[in-house]
Amino acid sequence: MNSVLIEGGTKLKGKVKISGAKNAALPELAAGLLTSHKVTLLEVPRVKDVETMLELLMELGAEIYVGEKIEIRTEKIIGTPREELFKAMRASVLILGPMLSRFGRAEILWPGGCSIGKRPINFHLMAMKKMGAEIIEETNKVVAKARRLHGTRIRFPRITVTGTENVIMAASLARGETFIENPAMEPEVIDLSNMLKKMGAKIEWQKEGVYIEGVEELCGTVHSVIPDRIEAGTFLVVGAVASDSLEIVNCNPSHMEAVLEKLGETGVEFSIKSSSIMIKGSKKFQPLRIETKEYPGFPTDMQAQFMVLMNFADGESEVIENIFPERFNHARELNKMGAEIEIYRGKAIIKGVRKLKGNTVLATDLRASASLVIAGLVAEGETEIKDIFHLMRGYENFFGKLRSIGASIKEG
Ligand code: EPU
Repeated sequence: MNSVLIEGGTKLKGKVKISGAKNAALPELAAGLLTSHKVTLLEVPRVKDVETMLELLMELGAEIYVGEKIEIRTEKIIGTPREELFKAMRASVLILGPMLSRFGRAEILWPGGCSIGKRPINFHLMAMKKMGAEIIEETNKVVAKARRLHGTRIRFPRITVTGTENVIMAASLARGETFIENPAMEPEVIDLSNMLKKMGAKIEWQKEGVYIEGVEELCGTVHSVIPDRIEAGTFLVVGAVASDSLEIVNCNPSHMEAVLEKLGETGVEFSIKSSSIMIKGSKKFQPLRIETKEYPGFPTDMQAQFMVLMNFADGESEVIENIFPERFNHARELNKMGAEIEIYRGKAIIKGVRKLKGNTVLATDLRASASLVIAGLVAEGETEIKDIFHLMRGYENFFGKLRSIGASIKEG
């Protein structure tokens, strides 16, 4: 699918069920490399990035069964995956820690990913070096080698989600104790850690950081991926701007406090139950100031969607992007639909124009695509979104779910 046509203005109503979290499933699939026993994952979202990770694992030598659940068993490594798999997704770097600690060698072709600014992997490499790996950087790849990694103390120059995940996975099979002083504490990192504990890893989260005591081997497990808090947040914005009312089920509101707090500040009405949120659509929103931060702060993966809502606010809103300061491609496209958003170094000022008009726009990355779809749903007239394949990387059956609550979307 290359593009979609959205007829804006229909008031949506009903219920959507949230899928498993892409950013938890990806490291958890990679964790299948840490043992020769069978690892079974439930609630894995069927999205393009998951497909890419499964292909990567298969080309490495994992045996994989895909049905309602996904089973992985890795006896040995048989080769290096094709370059395009590494290029397709930055999360391909997640095979580094498990490969190195279990097999003593990992080859990573420089990973790609969304066009949301610079995304180096130097912190991952620095950490593996500190754990005793030899790192050889070549023009198109990095080779990491180690007889056996050893425990150490790691302080990342700044908090990194996949960097923390790589170290926790590597340290689980290393000799001795590893301590990460400033780990990422995103729910996806904690979910991976819970899965590893079921596999026999010794991981302890304390106020001052996370301790991992390496073990000789890990066993298999059955694990259910947590609900996707970013998908749930995306549907909350859909509910706020484009619905009469929307019930979002199978989510975990306790993972979404920063997003719910900001939504509350806009004046939107919603009610929270243990695993669902009911939201009422509105036409009036208070302006907002959002600053993206590591968890439990406001997630960078939600600012593009909130920016659509900000167009409908009574006054000027502001987004400060601290994680990926260049992640504002969606602003240019929203401006084509009548928004008035100005970008200054890592900061966006959004005028409350209170109206968007359909146009032809270009999806440039995953969350930008989601924001353009929301804009299309609420705009006057028809919106064509080109390069919509970016959206398929991270949202399971997004258009099916939107159609089930009344959206008019044609896929081209
Ligand atoms: N950074 C470095 N060097 C590194 C690693 C990170 O300079 O070696 C910098 C990054 O450039 C960024 C900051 O550190 O400025 C934090 O990046 P982080 O490493 O936390 O990002 P990530 O692990 O690559 C994950 C998610 C992203 C999400 C970010 C931030 C996965 C697979 N990806 O990326 O998800 O935006 O954390 O929360 O977990 C998405 O789902 O749309 C997405 C982009």
